[in-house]
Amino acid sequence: MNILTSSCHLDYYRLSSSTQNHNHLPKMAPAVDPALEQLEAILKETLASVSDPKVKEKLTKAQRSRQNRFSQILNKFALDGQVALVTGGGQGIGRGIAHGLGEAGCKVAVADLELSRAETVAAELQAKGIQSLALKVDVSKKQEVEDMVKKVLSTFGDLHIGVNNAGIVFHSDSEDTSEKEWTKTMDVNLNGVFYCCQAEAKHMLKKGYGRIINTASMSATIVNHPQKQVAYNTSKAGVVHMSKTLGTEWCDRGVTVNCISPGYADTELNRSESLLAVRTQWLNETPMHKLADVDDLVGGVLYLTSGLANFTTGLDLIMDGGFTCW
Ligand SMILES: NC(=O)c1ccc[n+]([C@@H]2O[C@H](COP(=O)([O-])OP(=O)(O)OC[C@H]3O[C@@H](n4cnc5c(N)ncnc54)[C@H](O)[C@@H]3O)[C@@H](O)[C@H]2O)c1
Repeated sequence: MNILTSSCHLDYYRLSSSTQNHNHLPKMAPAVDPALEQLEAILKETLASVSDPKVKEKLTKAQRSRQNRFSQILNKFALDGQVALVTGGGQGIGRGIAHGLGEAGCKVAVADLELSRAETVAAELQAKGIQSLALKVDVSKKQEVEDMVKKVLSTFGDLHIGVNNAGIVFHSDSEDTSEKEWTKTMDVNLNGVFYCCQAEAKHMLKKGYGRIINTASMSATIVNHPQKQVAYNTSKAGVVHMSKTLGTEWCDRGVTVNCISPGYADTELNRSESLLAVRTQWLNETPMHKLADVDDLVGGVLYLTSGLANFTTGLDLIMDGGFTCW
């Protein structure tokens, strides 16, 4: 059992223990959803009170069919036995994704520029009974990325899911954006994602299975304002198109590549003094009038890694509270 009943992302389901690979999803015990439990209880009670064997048979069939349908569809969200790697997993969105994937059954490698952050998240996962590994990596360094993937493979023996999420942002008027700022942003946000995709896919393509999810941003689609961030926006547009390109190049060999594009999320990235002043404007311009909680974004990743996304590749999944619609 590698999901605790206290887990928050999948608290409607309890996964059974399993060592199956991605081709054979685990058995999942039916839910603790109160509405379904109530239905189950009514069916049980009705069955007990019916004496006509024909009616009894029909009711039994209905009960079995409901149970089967329920467990088959939710089984596809289970990731038991799979290995996931999350970069920038030491805090914010990456941390949330690491927890979500762990709760769905994965062993999780948490990689971050700040080793202490990765270690903290890995320890949080261990405390939930999830196998984890903390790694230090600078995703803008190709060799470090390759070493990171090697370490995951030597520790867990496989890699099914790569979430390339590490990213940075600077703000400056475009005419004043320094070469250093531009290059650093591209190195981490664009080159780093590519190095990760490449290193992960080299293994995944050999095995014929892989799910790569890159964290882009709604900034790939809209231009944020009032803060100026030309390098960030350009890098994220690159991530979206890279994901489409790789997603179509590798999908017929079993490896899908998609990206998620969050809107404004409530993380450290947005907590600098200068940004606090513009948060009210963001809230006004977001139809839902809220910033994303990290958990609001985890479901999209779970979908893209699940057996329900078998026909999905090159998707830019925008989760922005409606921001890009206005
Ligand atoms: N927060 C938002 O509003 C928002 C919106 C859209 C997209 N995103 C994207 O989501 C991703 C995560 O954002 P977040 O808000 O959780 O940010 P965050 O700053 O809270 O966390 C990012 C993590 O990445 C790590 N990191 C930074 N540079 C790295 C590097 N070179 N190598 C390895 N790790 C590195 C940091 O140490 C940090 O732990 C980023 O790609 C970001 O661009 C965030």
